[in-house]
Amino acid sequence: MTGPVLAVDQGTSGTKALVICPERGVIGSGSAPVRPRYGAGGVVEADPAELLGSVLDAGRQALHEAAEPVFAVGLANQGETVLAWDPATGRPLTEALVWQDRRAHVVCDELAPRGAELRHLTGLPLDPYFAAPKMAWIRRELTREGVVTTSDSWLVHQLTGAFVTDASTAGRTQLLDLDRVDWSPTALEIFGLTGERLPTVVDADGQVGTTTAFGADIPLTGLLVDQQAALLAQHALEPGTAKCTYGTGVFLLAQTGQAPRRGTSGLVSCVAWRLAGRTSYCLDGQIYTAASAVRWLTGLGVIAGAADLDPVGLSVPDAGGVTFVPALAGLAAPWWRGDLRGSVTGLGLDTTAGHLVRALCEGIAAQVAELADAAATDLGSPLSVLRVDGGLTRSALLMQTQADLLQRPVEVSGRPDVTALGAGAVARLGLDPGLSVADALPVWEPSALYEPRIGADEAAARRARFRAAVNTLLEHS
Ligand code: G3P
Repeated sequence: MTGPVLAVDQGTSGTKALVICPERGVIGSGSAPVRPRYGAGGVVEADPAELLGSVLDAGRQALHEAAEPVFAVGLANQGETVLAWDPATGRPLTEALVWQDRRAHVVCDELAPRGAELRHLTGLPLDPYFAAPKMAWIRRELTREGVVTTSDSWLVHQLTGAFVTDASTAGRTQLLDLDRVDWSPTALEIFGLTGERLPTVVDADGQVGTTTAFGADIPLTGLLVDQQAALLAQHALEPGTAKCTYGTGVFLLAQTGQAPRRGTSGLVSCVAWRLAGRTSYCLDGQIYTAASAVRWLTGLGVIAGAADLDPVGLSVPDAGGVTFVPALAGLAAPWWRGDLRGSVTGLGLDTTAGHLVRALCEGIAAQVAELADAAATDLGSPLSVLRVDGGLTRSALLMQTQADLLQRPVEVSGRPDVTALGAGAVARLGLDPGLSVADALPVWEPSALYEPRIGADEAAARRARFRAAVNTLLEHS
């Protein structure tokens, strides 16, 4: 069976939805904001009702614009965002702890002696970013009632009544055995979660149930964590191909093929997707704050918003000696120091908003360059090119800075909303199991190509300045 599908990308700061027709491409779109709440002590929470409401709202807008029925629904999710809920009624028992929430660091500190074991078992380092530390923290601090799962399981239960998660999202918990792609009794025991009722781990293109939220009994046939959905939509299907998404944070993923490849350079090793029973794996490096650092600068009044990055940043020729480590929610790969806070150094009376913007772009780009180097080390060869997507790729200043510091070309996806396109592709595969992965994907087209404009020596010097600033933070923590 073939026909348009509704693809929904439920993200940190909003939900996007597309109606995608196999022949005509995107024929409808919708979006709805989500407003996480930030608090002292690393609190980042979202209202579950707002998450669900945004899915329904964005999906219905897209359907209204398309003015055609859809044959299936696909859902991409935030990955490590967790809540407790009552499986009998579906009622949330807690707020959703967003992936950026740091409160579970106490769990991680306590379990540090088992960190290496957990890393080997699950591919993930101990860090409050992942779902299991948050699940354990919720069990200790908030409630013993109901089930505690990633947000996808709750959303899918609301939509279809099923109690499932897909293998890629399960792979973000630190409870999934990376080799067996099933819940690990050892990891559950380490986190004190033995006996928890856990969702069934399904394929990304599994038929999980039907929903009446978007029309009469529409099957939900696509489930994927958002970064992996973008990896798929960027056609990173062969080992060694990679993508980088610049959203709330930045996420660089490199495809590694059908066997897990445990990183030795600080990257996460995880499931890319399981399609029709076949698992693909990837390496993953992340930066916790990118668009959220831009929002932070905006909140301070330095710029009026992300659209200001280029006009303000290009008003000066360089960062004027300012170095910005935008670790506003700690540092992830390859440092894994979530407890660190950011720094801005080299300020003078002559420092302008433009210098701060350039320093932020350099801070983001320098971290991505570290992640790309780590991926190259683990893969045994450098990434030939970096395919990028996400809202911040609209900043030519950031993308040029990226190509400069990476010393590699940066290709910007010509299609906005690649994450939703990935969710749409798995929904199509679930609907039509005879389809090849390549045929389920939209054609890949770049909208811009940035080539390095500085020499290797200057790039190395700028990256060394950034590393020195990171080292100062590490030494003084
Ligand atoms: O790991 C969290 C990340 O996948 C969230 O992505 O697009 O919701 O910021 P996004």
